[in-house]
Amino acid sequence: MATKILAFCGSLRKGSYNRMALNAAKALAPDGVEIESFDELGDVPPYNEDVREAGFPPVIETLREQVRAADALVFGTPEYNYSVPGVLKNAIDWVSRPPDQPFKGKPCAVMGASISMLGGARAQYHLRQSMVFLDMHPVNQPEVMIAAAKEKFDADGKLTDETSKKLIRQLVENLVAWTKRLG
Ligand SMILES: Cc1cc2nc3c(=O)[nH]c(=O)nc-3n(C[C@H](O)[C@H](O)[C@H](O)COP(=O)(O)O)c2cc1C
Repeated sequence: MATKILAFCGSLRKGSYNRMALNAAKALAPDGVEIESFDELGDVPPYNEDVREAGFPPVIETLREQVRAADALVFGTPEYNYSVPGVLKNAIDWVSRPPDQPFKGKPCAVMGASISMLGGARAQYHLRQSMVFLDMHPVNQPEVMIAAAKEKFDADGKLTDETSKKLIRQLVENLVAWTKRLG
């Protein structure tokens, strides 16, 4: 049976390097792995507890179901001001609310691309911090931090950097093995 992975891109912009990196993950994934993207991040309203008490918005109901149905999750995120972009954190906040917190026990992986030299490391560690509270199970290694992203993709948005390709392939393989191990 195929391993189904739901991908989150923390950037909304068309030319996002992080989306390109997630596309590379899809292309590099081994046979039997399906990576599907959640592309409605821009439609998620700002979190409001009053709204939640009246019922999750439809986009969140759907996303909560998608998270539940996925065998594993992968997050490809930029770093904004040394942390996780608000749009991604906002969606995580919505999905994380009871009942049956859908992130609990979910195997996941984190990767990121940045135009700077650190490849979004700080955002990734902040995301991992939230994963502790959400009781998710992130793969530890490899850490995929694509620095100087402008130089790593071609004009068609294809990842050209061999080191990054190798790391992404390994991350997906490790996530699949981790998912099978967790059962
Ligand atoms: C609001 C904002 C804050 C940013 N802060 C950081 C930062 O703290 N660290 C960093 O490496 N890059 C930072 N950047 C630059 C991003 O790395 C760069 O815009 C990157 O291309 C965003 O990812 P994307 O290509 O997937 O949209 C910031 C960009 C924006 C728009």
